[in-house]
Amino acid sequence: MTTSLHVRPVDTADDMLAAFALRREVFVNEQSVPLDLEIDDTDFDPQTVHLIGELGDDVVAVGRLTPPEATVAADLAALHLPQFSADGFPTGTELPGSTAATSIHVGRLAVRHDKRGLGLGAALVAGCLREAARRWRGPGALMLELSAQVYAIGFYRRTGFALVEHRDTYLDAGIEHRDMAAMYTPGG
Ligand SMILES: CC(C)(COP(=O)(O)OP(=O)(O)OC[C@H]1O[C@@H](n2cnc3c(N)ncnc32)[C@H](O)[C@@H]1OP(=O)(O)O)[C@@H](O)C(=O)NCCC(=O)NCCS
Repeated sequence: MTTSLHVRPVDTADDMLAAFALRREVFVNEQSVPLDLEIDDTDFDPQTVHLIGELGDDVVAVGRLTPPEATVAADLAALHLPQFSADGFPTGTELPGSTAATSIHVGRLAVRHDKRGLGLGAALVAGCLREAARRWRGPGALMLELSAQVYAIGFYRRTGFALVEHRDTYLDAGIEHRDMAAMYTPGG
């Protein structure tokens, strides 16, 4: 497994252009998502955190964190969800969602086509979660939510997320998605 992926927030205009270029390559060119849906208002919210994953100077992965919601959805708070620890990898234990005070959306996760299957996606998820914790951790746990393309549910399960079973499949940009969630307890 390749573990040398360096995940960090975009810092310069060149970083941001590299992030958009990779998203366009993956979501628009590979997956046929219309460009005007792929780039959305959230991209330009000053609180949104864009992340890149680098191998050396090569940007091979990308992700996005959406600023915390003031409250955690009641139906998620009722669940027991898988837990991540401080390194961003799953612990194998579960926590009640009601212990989370705030909820963060993780999205636009992608690894460049020629670098898939090497463990970089898992490293990307871990890096995103560490950054979420660094920025937004309060006294309690963080709830993490994502909208998974149905084909990628297995990937997200492998990296620690659980399917929100009672929420149905829905279409986003013409692609079937399901909601998934987990808890993050850095230091816990
Ligand atoms: C989904 C994606 C990020 C996975 O990246 P990756 O670098 O290939 O993933 P990894 O190599 O880190 O895989 C981690 C684990 O998940 C598994 N996995 C990867 N993709 C999977 C899939 N589609 N279904 C089931 N399991 C999968 C791997 O086999 C590996 O399992 P292991 O821990 O037993 O070895 C990548 O396929 C991608 O960029 N896809 C296009 C963009 C996209 O669809 N993003 C998701 C939008 S919701």
